[in-house]
Formats: sequence, structure tokens, C-alpha cells
Amino acid sequence: MLLRPTTPDDLAWVLALEADPEAAAFIVRWSEDEHRSAIAADDQAHIIIEQHGQITGFALLAGLLDRNQAIELRRIVVSPVGHGLGRAALSLLIDHAFNELAGHRLWLDVKVANERARLAYQRAGFVREGVLRDALLTNGSFESLIVMSMLRQERPA
Ligand SMILES: CC(C)(COP(=O)(O)OP(=O)(O)OC[C@H]1O[C@@H](n2cnc3c(N)ncnc32)[C@H](O)[C@@H]1OP(=O)(O)O)[C@@H](O)C(=O)NCCC(=O)NCCS
Repeated sequence: MLLRPTTPDDLAWVLALEADPEAAAFIVRWSEDEHRSAIAADDQAHIIIEQHGQITGFALLAGLLDRNQAIELRRIVVSPVGHGLGRAALSLLIDHAFNELAGHRLWLDVKVANERARLAYQRAGFVREGVLRDALLTNGSFESLIVMSMLRQERPA
């Protein structure tokens, strides 16, 4: 598996990954323009996850210029789910955030209902910090978000 920067040519894949029913309920889907802006932004990394030359997912890191060195794992989507791709991709993303981007804190939020992602993050070494109650309004319903993080000194060896 490898990570590489997303290009505009990849965006059809990215939009299809976001539309997949396995992902759509758990993320805030973006328009193509929003993804283009993220690709162009200095403080974000829009990343394609590839295995055997095939796109198997994408991820978004934000806060690359944050003065507190706090990098947000804003999104990760892999396909197919439940076959170890997430575990492998998270390991590469953690390595990238701490070693290449010099992060001190890597953090994320995840919907309470997204048990698979919560467990995947926990397995990867993220620590639960707390709950942002009713932080997200989706189709007229409020959802709570769990905040998780990993500090530089906690990254897996
Ligand atoms: C979250 C996501 C990246 C995890 O990747 P994945 O490839 O599905 O997960 P893996 O197969 O690598 O499994 C990693 C861990 O997740 C947990 N997990 C996997 N499938 C699970 C399931 N069906 N139910 C509960 N936990 C599950 C397990 O703890 C597993 O660790 P283990 O195999 O050592 O027990 C992936 O499921 C995904 O893209 N989901 C849709 C989008 C999404 O929810 N993104 C996160 C938004 S915050």
C-alpha cells in the first residue's frame, strides 16, 4: 500500500468512494469543488490510498500549518471495508503525520454510531478524549461526535 497526493483526475474516484453506502452515512460528503479546494490548500493534504496500483481509498489531513502542530485526520474512506485496508492506511497516515509533517497531535472526530471506525481508530492507537454532544445536524437530526487523538510520543513504534 502507498499514499500519494490526490490529483484532479482522481476526483471521480473520490466522489464515488464518498457515495458508497458503506461510507455515506458516516461522513460529510463534499462537492467536487470542495475537494478541488482541499487539493489546492497549503494547510491540507488530500491523499489517495493505493494498493497494487488500484485506488482503494482516500484521506484528508488538515491543519498542516497549525502553530500548535495539531493535525486533523479529517476524513478517511477505504473500499472495500472490513478487509484490513483501513488498518494499513491508518498506519501509513500516522507515520506521515508525525514523521513527514512533523505533527505533535493527530486528532479526529467520529460519529458515535460509527462503531467500525471507532474500533479501527482505537486499534490504531488513538485515545478517546470526549464527546461533542449534538455537534452535527444531519437531515434534521443531531448527532454527537467522539473526539480521539494520538500524541507524537504515543505513536506506534
Ligand atoms: C473506518 C474505515 C477506514 C476502517 O477501515 P476498514 O478497512 O474497514 O477496517 P479494518 O478492516 O482495517 O479493521 C480495522 C479495525 O476496525 C474494526 N472493525 C473492522 N470492521 C469492523 C466491523 N464490521 N465492526 C466493528 N469493528 C470493525 C476492528 O477493530 C478492526 O481491527 P481488528 O481487525 O484488529 O479487530 C473504513 O471502514 C471506512 O472507510 N468506512 C467508511 C467511511 C468511514 O466511516 N470513515 C471514517 C469517518 S470518521
